[in-house]
Amino acid sequence: MRDRCYNRNMRLDRHLSASGLGTRTQVRDLIRAGRVRVAGVVVRDPGTRLPDRDLPLVEIDGAEVSLRRHIHLMLHKPAGCVTAMEDPRHPTVADLLPTEIRGRVAPVGRLDIDVTGLLLLTGDGVLAHRLASPKWEVDKTYRVTYDGPDMTDADVEVFSSGLTLADGTLCRPARLVPCGPGLAILTIHEGRFHQVKNMIRASGRSVTALVRERMGPLTLDESLAPGAYRLLTEKETAALYATVSLNH
Ligand code: URA
Repeated sequence: MRDRCYNRNMRLDRHLSASGLGTRTQVRDLIRAGRVRVAGVVVRDPGTRLPDRDLPLVEIDGAEVSLRRHIHLMLHKPAGCVTAMEDPRHPTVADLLPTEIRGRVAPVGRLDIDVTGLLLLTGDGVLAHRLASPKWEVDKTYRVTYDGPDMTDADVEVFSSGLTLADGTLCRPARLVPCGPGLAILTIHEGRFHQVKNMIRASGRSVTALVRERMGPLTLDESLAPGAYRLLTEKETAALYATVSLNH
């Protein structure tokens, strides 16, 4: 993924909206109302350019704001949209984001069109690459609803020692927790195409619903309705970078 860092001398309104502080219209209104200070001075022109390096202190209503070089979002992906920024046939996850943010992030990995739950989008290409790479073995946890016989201790053992898929692919050890009839929690460390569906199929069952609940240190925020997103907190962002040994 292309690294989407700030352009040189980006406009103040773009900085603010791209940092998740409001839509372009909202931040322009704030600026014109004299509520934004740059290096202690009220700035009323939304087109004021800020230097790319050594960003000055920016305040809104006297409170310092954090201008982000990269933004990171947690999206509650709904069913019916594809994990892509554009697609000729289907709605995409990008359609759920405001235009100010859309150009600054890309999804990390993918969820199938019918799969819901936690999708991370980031503007940091290095972070995205590491999180998606099997080398870093980032955990992904799914709530799996399935058709077929209840999962047994023998299934737990097979998943934990490395299941073999129908095409002969050997999966990495995975943690299966049976949760009653037709329901299990599955944690995997890899992300091949249809990974969970294929694993469940190889066990003689079929997935009827799949929700990603966790990815690395992130847990799907229960307050996010399907289709809603929020910026990661500083704590979540730091934990994410630490997971793949990057400095934040
Ligand atoms: N496994 C799948 O089968 N589908 C997904 O979308 C994610 C994991």
